[in-house]
Amino acid sequence: MAYDESVMAQMREIIERYPNSRSAVMPLLHLVQSIDDEITPEGMQVIAEQLGLTTAEVTAVATFYTMYKRRPVGKHHIGVCTNTLCALLGGDAVYDAISERLGAGHDERDADGTFWLERIECQAACTHAPVMTVDWEFMDCQTPQSALDVIDRLARGEEVVSTRGPVIRDFQATEHTLAFPVDGLAGEGGEADAIMLAGLTVARERGMTAPAPGEGPA
Ligand code: FES
Repeated sequence: MAYDESVMAQMREIIERYPNSRSAVMPLLHLVQSIDDEITPEGMQVIAEQLGLTTAEVTAVATFYTMYKRRPVGKHHIGVCTNTLCALLGGDAVYDAISERLGAGHDERDADGTFWLERIECQAACTHAPVMTVDWEFMDCQTPQSALDVIDRLARGEEVVSTRGPVIRDFQATEHTLAFPVDGLAGEGGEADAIMLAGLTVARERGMTAPAPGEGPA
C-alpha cells in the first residue's frame, strides 16, 4: 500500500526513540508488517530512505530474522514449539495435527489465507510445554485436540483468550504492538504461576543464593 502521512508520522516517532536512527530498523519492519501483512519491497525501500540505509542493508535484516515474512501471513500466525522439551511432551503431535487440519506445512499459509503455520524455536515457556503461540500470544500445555479447538474457534470468528490472559487479536495487531510496545494492554496478562516459580521456590526453601559478582568458580 502507499504509505500515507499517518504511517510516515509513526515511522518518525519510532526513529526518534533512538540516538542512532539505524537502530529503528527492526520496529520499522514490524510496522510495515502491521500495515502490509508482510515485508514488501516498497516497505523496505521506504525504511531505507527514512534511515539513510541501502535497501540491501534493510533486506539483510528482514531476511535474517524469522519473524519477518516475505509473503502475506493472513489473519492469524500459529507457532508451534517443536524444540526439545515441547517436542518430547507432544509438540510434534500438536504441529502434525494442525498441519493436517490446515493443509499447510512449515512457514506456509492455508488455502483461504486465514492461518500461517510455523515451527518455532523455544519460547522460554518450557514450564508449560508443549506450547503454541497464536499471533505470538501463549497457549500453554497444548494437546492436539486443544490446539485444533483453538484453530476451529478462530476460524469461526469466536473470541479466544490466551492461557496467559490476553484476548487474541490478529497478526497485524500484534505486529503493531511490536512497533509500539506501549499499547495499554500490558495489564492483561496474569501473574507468574506456581509452576513458573517452582525453581525459585525450591531455592528459597533451601536457602540457596547466587554467588556475588567475583565469587563464582575460578
Ligand atoms: S522447548 Fe518449547 S518453550 Fe522451551
